[in-house]
Amino acid sequence: MSPLHQNILAPSLLAGDHAALGESALHIEQAGLKWIHLDIMDAHFVPNLSFGPQLLKDLRSKVGLFFDTHLMLDEPHRYIDAFIDAGAQNVTIHVEPHYPIKETLAKIRARGCGVGLALNPGTPAEAVKPFLSDVDLILAMTVQPGFGGQAFREDVLPKIAQLHTWRVEGNLSYRLQVDGGIDTLSGPRCQAMGADTFVVGNAFFKAKDLQGVLNTFKA
Ligand code: DX5
Ligand code: ZN
Repeated sequence: MSPLHQNILAPSLLAGDHAALGESALHIEQAGLKWIHLDIMDAHFVPNLSFGPQLLKDLRSKVGLFFDTHLMLDEPHRYIDAFIDAGAQNVTIHVEPHYPIKETLAKIRARGCGVGLALNPGTPAEAVKPFLSDVDLILAMTVQPGFGGQAFREDVLPKIAQLHTWRVEGNLSYRLQVDGGIDTLSGPRCQAMGADTFVVGNAFFKAKDLQGVLNTFKA
């Protein structure tokens, strides 16, 4: 299968040093990568709490990375402006909570920001099908969101293939992102199903062979 997009590796700052997040972000930039994945958690939609818009604001002047912002929030529509004003360049919201999804996707796009839609491992691909032409990225979670360092869920692989098939059949161009337990073994398995955008937390920040990780995902 010919790839639609060049691979992008997006390290998740959640796996960085929370006492020195600016240094962790610089570490991503010094590794020659372009994207940083910012996991925003509200302790409601997911059982964890992470960062707010102020972090993006303060990081904005320190690194030139693309801010790929993953909102794991029950009410993401209330925080779109705050994160985009703080420097978010892609905002991904989840399909599971109950809020005006189509309008929120349109609002993110109207602000000139990249827009993504995420689905958890237990959510069927059909849940995002109505929105495929409204997004620049679909995020297929390969762990139940909330924490880094979890085991990759290979039961998500058929869903990734389905999302790729719909992309080809519909002549759509969204990026297909995976997030959770992605490393040098699970990453290529996802790529074989059509994934082209890879979030790595522990596989990046705790890498014994960082060059090996970078080589695995090189386009
Ligand atoms: C989980 C987060 C993931 C996580 C990835 O809720 O959305 O981005 O930080 O970390 P690893 O790659 O260590 O699973
Ligand atoms: Zn994430």
